[in-house]
Amino acid sequence: MKIAIVGVGNVGAALGARFSEAGHEVLFGVRATTDAYAARFGARVRPVSQAARDAEVVVLAVPGSVAVEAAGALGLREGQVLVDCTNPIRWSEGPVWAPPPEGSNASALAAAFPNVDVVKAFNQFGAETHADPAYGDRRADVFLASDSDEAKAKVSVLATSAGFEAVDAGKLRNAAVLENVAVLWIHLATVGGLGRAFVLARLSR
Ligand SMILES: NC(=O)c1ccc[n+]([C@@H]2O[C@H](COP(=O)([O-])OP(=O)(O)OC[C@H]3O[C@@H](n4cnc5c(N)ncnc54)[C@H](OP(=O)(O)O)[C@@H]3O)[C@@H](O)[C@H]2O)c1
Repeated sequence: MKIAIVGVGNVGAALGARFSEAGHEVLFGVRATTDAYAARFGARVRPVSQAARDAEVVVLAVPGSVAVEAAGALGLREGQVLVDCTNPIRWSEGPVWAPPPEGSNASALAAAFPNVDVVKAFNQFGAETHADPAYGDRRADVFLASDSDEAKAKVSVLATSAGFEAVDAGKLRNAAVLENVAVLWIHLATVGGLGRAFVLARLSR
């Protein structure tokens, strides 16, 4: 798949590396094409306005407070899949969910860009897991919420190819739930003292 990653910090860089290793064509969109980015990503760096041009899937991994603004600079096209990894979270003796009026960052993106299919995903664990989703013989679950089954299927294939376990979490309204899964993860990692080398797991029998 042709993938654009926008926001190339902890999450974006780790996911981009993971998707590249899985054989996908990845471009990294940055606000300023500095030497530092060129040294890290070589010829795959593009200005934000160009990174998403030919992408099937655009991964948004910017700070939660600028998600809509950052997506607005991408020139998103009809039918592209926008994967929202962001979390609208502030801090008050621990993480606090601080969603926009639309109900979640993903819903705000869907309202602002009705021509694309938004999938909430990859927001539920720390970036160390984006870099390496293996936990012994198990793989980290990635819960996916979207109103488009086709887009969810595409992101499931992408996640699976990169070593994650894709789990359908229902419609985009459940993005609010997934953003709160992130709140729980961050709480446990920080206030709860668990550190960052864990994921919340699904047990079946
Ligand atoms: N860190 C985690 O473990 C983790 C896990 C799951 C989800 N998340 C969520 O994922 C998102 C990214 O987290 P992160 O830790 O990767 O953040 P980060 O390391 O701070 O990286 C954010 C990136 O976004 C870029 N950026 C900021 N504003 C932008 C804009 N308007 N347009 C384009 N790019 C912009 C920054 O680029 P510049 O160099 O230009 O500033 C930077 O590369 C957040 O919403 C976070 O809540 C984080």
